[in-house]
Amino acid sequence: VIVQRMEAINKALYIGTGKVAEVKEYAAMTEAEEIVFDNALSPSQIRNLGDELELPILDRTNLILDIFAIRAKTREAKLQVGMRENLSRQGGTGGSMSNKGAGETKLELDRRKIEHRISELKKELTEVAGNRRTMRKKREESRTPQVALVGYTNAGKSTILNKLVERYGEGREKTVLEKDMLFATLDTSVRSIRTEDNRPFFLTDTVGFIHKLPHGLVKSFHSTLEEIRYADLLVHVVDFSDEYYKQQIEVTEETLKELGAGDIPRIVVYNKADLCQPERIPRRCGAQIYLSASLGVGLQELVEMIQEAVYADRLETEFLFPYDKGAVMSYFMENATVLEQEYLEEGVRLKVSCHKNDAEKYAAYAF
Ligand code: GTP
Repeated sequence: VIVQRMEAINKALYIGTGKVAEVKEYAAMTEAEEIVFDNALSPSQIRNLGDELELPILDRTNLILDIFAIRAKTREAKLQVGMRENLSRQGGTGGSMSNKGAGETKLELDRRKIEHRISELKKELTEVAGNRRTMRKKREESRTPQVALVGYTNAGKSTILNKLVERYGEGREKTVLEKDMLFATLDTSVRSIRTEDNRPFFLTDTVGFIHKLPHGLVKSFHSTLEEIRYADLLVHVVDFSDEYYKQQIEVTEETLKELGAGDIPRIVVYNKADLCQPERIPRRCGAQIYLSASLGVGLQELVEMIQEAVYADRLETEFLFPYDKGAVMSYFMENATVLEQEYLEEGVRLKVSCHKNDAEKYAAYAF
């Protein structure tokens, strides 16, 4: 941290020229990769400082906005919630703020800027949502499949997610998430499931459907509902022990149709079968399965059904990409599930699970 006290700022560089030299020396000594100013800089100051210091320059405002931007990309839902909190906080504390010192005024200003930026982000988010369908089309054939749990409230979706994460998500989960972060919109409720045979998929829990979901809620849950629309497969969880389970299936199917998810392939899980047919679980009939999530009976079978469905058009294969074929390699890094990666003298060996079309198209690079 370097501090400078001055009567007036240097218009071109914010800090004095002597100070710039000191910062430069210190940055070289510490091998700094970036310089952050804890105050707002003008665009030309940022440019001039960048030229002088030869390092990326970030000012306070941009740092805060970057953080927002990062969160906004990965967590639409959080952003929506955050936006509301932010606005209500501003409204609620306005009066008591007015006679505080300069520090608060600055904070207030920062907040205004951030709010302005949030409203820009909001616009961007709408565009992102629109683009996603096209983007998804492009990638859907070979990226890590996305599976969404849907169903009437209380059917047992969270229980299924948690049990599967306990068995197949533990430990490995984090690395997979990080690795695939760039290609999947991950919300807090998205988990990575990976069994030993290396056919991973992302599993999302979604808000339980109920008869007449209140209007206000629909909006807040818009992003989880989006997850449904763009899923490769839906796992429709039914509480088989509920006497109204048939009506609940109807409500869920209706809601899915309204969301534009009516034609996504699905598996129907008759959960809580331990309560009505304990001696007959697990039992699979085509794309339906009777099981008990809480007892953990039938979960392995469910995972196999999911994998069969989402990996139908895929195969595992190995490539060797010479070091000068970076573009092809990045294509696979982005569009396939990388199972193994090894740096050899001739190039990078990748073991991937990819769409069979891609495997054919790039057969020249087969290892
Ligand atoms: P929402 O979040 O409201 O949509 O509910 P959900 O579908 O996520 O249901 P959740 O997993 O929270 O389960 C609801 C209740 O059913 C919990 O009390 C579970 O313990 C219970 N439950 C879940 N699976 C089973 C099961 O296989 N058998 C029995 N007997 N109870 C179960």
